[in-house]
Formats: sequence, C-alpha cells, structure tokens
Amino acid sequence: MNIYQHIEGLQAFVAAERAAGHRIAFVPTMGALHAGHLSLVKRALQENDCCIVSVFVNPTQFNNPRDLETYPRTLEADSDLLSSVGTSALFAPEVSTIYPEPDTRHFDVGAVAEVMEGKYRPGHFNGVMQVVSRLFEIVRPDCAYFGEKDFQQIAVLRAMSHLIKSPVEIIACPIVREADGLALSSRNLLLTKEGRAVAPNIYRILAESRSWRQDHTPQQVIERVTAEINALPELRVEYFEIVDTDSLQPITQWSDSPKPHGCITVYCGEVRLIDNIPYY
Ligand code: PAF
Repeated sequence: MNIYQHIEGLQAFVAAERAAGHRIAFVPTMGALHAGHLSLVKRALQENDCCIVSVFVNPTQFNNPRDLETYPRTLEADSDLLSSVGTSALFAPEVSTIYPEPDTRHFDVGAVAEVMEGKYRPGHFNGVMQVVSRLFEIVRPDCAYFGEKDFQQIAVLRAMSHLIKSPVEIIACPIVREADGLALSSRNLLLTKEGRAVAPNIYRILAESRSWRQDHTPQQVIERVTAEINALPELRVEYFEIVDTDSLQPITQWSDSPKPHGCITVYCGEVRLIDNIPYY
C-alpha cells in the first residue's frame, strides 16, 4: 500500500492509475478505522480497480472543540488495517495541506442540511462539505463510498455534489453492527464499560419500534422510543425524528412518505452516538 502525506505524491499515483485505464474509488475517513470502514474499502475494491482511502480528522466539521480534541487518532493501526484488506493508497495529510488558508466557503444545499444534525451541530455539515469537496478536487475519483450510519451526511453530500456539479458518484453502503446490534463507530472506543454495556439497547429499541408502526402514529413511535431509551442508565436521547428518506423532512402520518426513516442521536454518558432505521 502506498502512503502519501502530500498532494503531489498522491496525484502522481492517481495519474498513473488513470494512464493504466483504471477506475478509481475513494473512501474518505477520519481514521480510528473499524470493520464498518473496511466494508466500504472491500466493496470499493470489488467494484473498481483501485481504492484510495483518506484519513483526516477534519477540524472544520467539529462544532465542539472538546470533541475534536478527544476524537481518537490511531494512524498506525489504521494503516495496518487498510493494508490488510488490499487498499491501493492511503492519503493522510496535515491540516495545512488540506487548508493552506482558512476555508470560508459556504455551501447552501437547503433543507437537507438544516434538520436534525444541522440543527444540533451548527456548521457541522458545512465543514463536511468543505473537506469532501476539497478531497474530491485533490483525488478526482470516479466514485466515493460512504456508510449509511451517517444517513443525513449522505443526503447532504448528494445535494453538495449536485450543487457543485461534481462528477463523483456517491455510493451508500449499509450500516455494519456489532453482534449485539450496536452500530460500529469510531466513537465506540470512547465508551466506558457501563456505556458499552447499555449502548446496544439503542438499536434493540429502534428495531422493536418497526413493529409499532401498525398501531402507533409516527409521533407516538417517537415518544415511546425516546421514553424507553431515556429510562436506561447512561442514555439520553438528544433527538429522534421520523423523516422522509429523500427530503429528510419530518412526517406526521405514515402515508406522508413511501420511505419513512427514523434518525436518532443518543448521549451515552459523554459520548454522542447516532443510528437510524427504515420503517419500510
Ligand atoms: O463520515 C466521516 O467520517 C466524515 O464526516 C468524512 C466524510 C470523512 C468527512 O470528514
């Protein structure tokens, strides 16, 4: 596996791949890699000739400085994992390489970025769009793979792609879970022993709530899921919304959307976890 810290080296690699007629896939990450990230890389390698992974903890998407400070950084282990699954190249730049100057761009993609995470983490999605658009410019891949755990992020990035007329195809991949149902996340590394023990209840309750659709309105499902999770030690729901999969706007009746989707954020102690579930 080739490892690049600088744009020039990476772009020479990309140029050689292009000259060989290869289709190039890209998996952007913030590191602290787990089986969820590796599933993206494996799929990217199955569907393309080459896969480039970036590891970059992007400061502009953290609205909370403490979150940025404590975000796990495990580059050596990440590099070993990526190499073990046959990743073609790792791009691990410094902040000054991605942002030689402060990025003042504002992406107006409308309502998809304003609800849920957009409301609770102001500026977060603008930071995600800054870094992903910058990485797309540097890497110039044919396609990029993202995990559906960050359900809203995928909708926002599709809207960004449309806005900036990016030719990069955005491919969404299913959530990977632990055997007990907890969605894999780099933040799981930050959970205490007690938190890790209780956190799988988030998915257990979400999964159960699919059957409540028959005799509950969306609002009743929201209230029951929230109450059941909040009744558990360590867990506190920040928001739970049931939205239309495409518009991400909340629904009031099941008939409002052909594809209703539940999106949740829960604090498990100090750690903010997200998850989501289809109701179709
Ligand atoms: O999903 C993530 O890990 C990040 O938001 C991303 C897409 C790598 C941008 O920093």
